[in-house]
Amino acid sequence: MKTNHLSINLAGLKLANPTVLASGILGLSADSLSNIVKGGVGAIVTKSVGLKPRKGYANPTIVQANCGLINAMGLPNPGIKEFVKEIREAKSFGVPVIVSVYGFSAEEYATVAKKAVDAGADAVELNVSCPHVKDTGSEIGQNPEILAEVIGKVKTSVEKPVFVKLSPNVTNIVEIAEVVANSGADALTAINTVKAMAIDPGTTMPILSNKIGGLSGLAIKPIAVRCVYEIYEKVKLPIVGCGGVTNWRDAVEFLLAGATAIQIGTAIAIKGPSVFRSVTRGINAYLKRKGFKSVDEIVGLSHRN
Ligand code: DHB
Repeated sequence: MKTNHLSINLAGLKLANPTVLASGILGLSADSLSNIVKGGVGAIVTKSVGLKPRKGYANPTIVQANCGLINAMGLPNPGIKEFVKEIREAKSFGVPVIVSVYGFSAEEYATVAKKAVDAGADAVELNVSCPHVKDTGSEIGQNPEILAEVIGKVKTSVEKPVFVKLSPNVTNIVEIAEVVANSGADALTAINTVKAMAIDPGTTMPILSNKIGGLSGLAIKPIAVRCVYEIYEKVKLPIVGCGGVTNWRDAVEFLLAGATAIQIGTAIAIKGPSVFRSVTRGINAYLKRKGFKSVDEIVGLSHRN
C-alpha cells in the first residue's frame, strides 16, 4: 500500500497516518503497545497520569451497553514518578507519544506535564473531561476560569504541544473550545465519554461501583461528529476527533467534519489492534476513489457552501 499521502502534521507532530490510540484503553505494557504499533497506529495517547498513585474504584468498573461501553475506572495510575519508565518504553516504538495528564490544581497539571515531557513525551493531552472523579477532569473543563489557568500554567512549563480533551457533558462545547484556544493550547481532542449509567433489574441497583460512568463506542459517534463540526466552524486549532470510530467510514466522517486526526479506543476491544490498519487502508482507498491526493484535502470539507 502506498501511504505517503496519508501522513499528517498534527500540531507539529508528524504522524504516518491519522489514526491515534485514545487514552485509557490499554495500560502501556510493552506487549500491548507493541501490538498496537504492529496494528498500524499513527500515534499513542497514554492512560491518564497524575502526581500521586491512585487505586481507582472497586469493581465493577466497566459495563457493556447496547452499542458501547460504560466505564468508571476512577483514574487508576501509578503516579508520574513511576510512569516515566512507561513513557520511556513507549517512546522506543518509534511513534509519537502523547501523555494524558490530570491534576487537582493548575500546579499539579503543570508539574505532571513537565515530568512527562522531561521523560520524552512528544506532547501532552490535558484530561479536563473525566466525567466522574471529584475535583479534577470535567470539574476543571466545565469552569472557564480554572480551565484557562490550567492551560496557561502547563503552557509555561512545557515546550511541547498541549492538547486539551473536551467533555461533551456541557451546555455549549464551542464556548469551552474557544476558552481553550484563547488560553494558548495547540490542539483539541473532542470528545471524552458521555455521562451514563446502567441499572441491574435483578439486583435493582446501579451496576458500576461508582454508579455513574462514561459511555464510549458506537453510541456516541454522532454526538462526537456534531461536536467536531461545531468547533471547526468557530475555532482555528487542529481537532482530533474521538468517539465511536470503528471503521474507515467513521474516520472519514470525522475528517469531513473538521478533524485533522481521529482517535480509536473502544473499537480495539471488538476488532483488536489491526483496526488502525484497516481504518487507514479504508481512508486511503476512499481518497483514491474520490481523486484526493492527501488526507488534508478532506479535512473540514463538509463545511463548504
Ligand atoms: C476515567 C474515565 C474517563 O473518561 C477519563 O477521561 C479519565 C478517566 C476513569 O474512570 O479512569
